[in-house]
Amino acid sequence: VTKSHLDKVPSYFIRKQTLQNAERFYTEELKELEEKLLSAEEKIVSMEKEIVENLRNSVLDFTREIVALTNFIKELDLIQAFAEVSRNYKYTKPAITTDKRLLIKDGRHPVVEKNLKSPFIPNDTALDTENTIMYIITGPNMSGKSTYLRQVAIIVIMAHMGCFVPATYAEIPLTDRIFARIGASDDITKGVSTFMAEMLETAEIMRNATSDSLLILDEIGRGTATTDGIAIAWACAEYILERIKAKTLFATHYHELSEIARINPHVKNYHMKVAEWEGNIVFLRKLVEGVANKSYGIHVAALSGLPKEIIERAKEIAGQLERKEAELLERVRSNVKQLNLFERVEAKKSSCKICEELTSLDIDGITPREALNLLYKLREEVDKCLGS
Ligand SMILES: Nc1ncnc2c1ncn2[C@@H]1O[C@H](COP(=O)(O)OP(=O)(O)OP(=O)(O)O)[C@@H](O)[C@H]1O
Ligand SMILES: [Mg+2]
Repeated sequence: VTKSHLDKVPSYFIRKQTLQNAERFYTEELKELEEKLLSAEEKIVSMEKEIVENLRNSVLDFTREIVALTNFIKELDLIQAFAEVSRNYKYTKPAITTDKRLLIKDGRHPVVEKNLKSPFIPNDTALDTENTIMYIITGPNMSGKSTYLRQVAIIVIMAHMGCFVPATYAEIPLTDRIFARIGASDDITKGVSTFMAEMLETAEIMRNATSDSLLILDEIGRGTATTDGIAIAWACAEYILERIKAKTLFATHYHELSEIARINPHVKNYHMKVAEWEGNIVFLRKLVEGVANKSYGIHVAALSGLPKEIIERAKEIAGQLERKEAELLERVRSNVKQLNLFERVEAKKSSCKICEELTSLDIDGITPREALNLLYKLREEVDKCLGS
């Protein structure tokens, strides 16, 4: 109140402070209000705490009902999501079977399909454990090999989840595990190089896969020198075919591996179809029987924008190397004519027969003539063994 109005101040005003030209007052009522306001925040916090605790306690009484409801909603949400994608993307109901036959007609990769601007090209699969155990899939870079491998694995997983699958027809066998060896990774901090990581994973697969498993092998053996890589990939394929009998999709750039199909009726060669048009490569992304006739690696590299000079020089070098590759293929072919892994084990057993015959021999009890005859016979067997 300014000094000129001080005489109008009522008696219940209590003086608080004197300023140069005015006096400040408060009243009992204002004081009470101030106290109320100051303590209100504290009260809000404690009241809120009490309310939340009460609410929590009353919710706790319904724990069982709430958990049951949550589970129900969870399942409903999942089935709803399955139904929505299945309808939106035209998935079909797979038949789950126990007859070990994997049959997919017009399979698609659900994620790649969704992200593509152009239409996704569907592909079929027909694998089992008696007739066709393995597909060896060749084809240029970018032709769709990895996509195909993954789409088959995803369709099998989706069917096991209870979802419809991106295909027009599917028979999915009950599968115990899906093993995948895909991509290049390393862990130098744990002392594992790229190739070592590849081999560790491959070893894990060879040890644990069964005839009810699905194997997705994307370029096994590519992490090392060509001959070693082919040899490892080849031996793994033989082991799967002879010992594990797991349905296997094997993508590779080593065309030499397609030779396995010549000696093993359980293997089919497939390749991703491409066409050449005015010197350019056109990816048709269709899986067809047979082996890819060219690798087109330099064509694909050219598409990436590598300097023209590098591409031209690469073509020159490739020409020289192709001659050497033809020689390698010839060597592999002649190797095929020799024994495969398992026949070799049998051969070893037959050479043991000679040892058996010798150890069971009573040397002091036979005549010189009998000894000479036996020596001729053993020599004949050894010659036979070395000759095969
Ligand atoms: N069936 C398909 N229909 C349409 N597009 C496809 C199909 N399959 C693959 N693609 C497209 O091609 C691209 C390359 O495919 P992918 O990586 O499978 O090739 P790749 O043969 O494994 O090549 P690389 O030998 O270099 O590993 C994919 O990212 C996808 O965009
Ligand atoms: Mg690939």
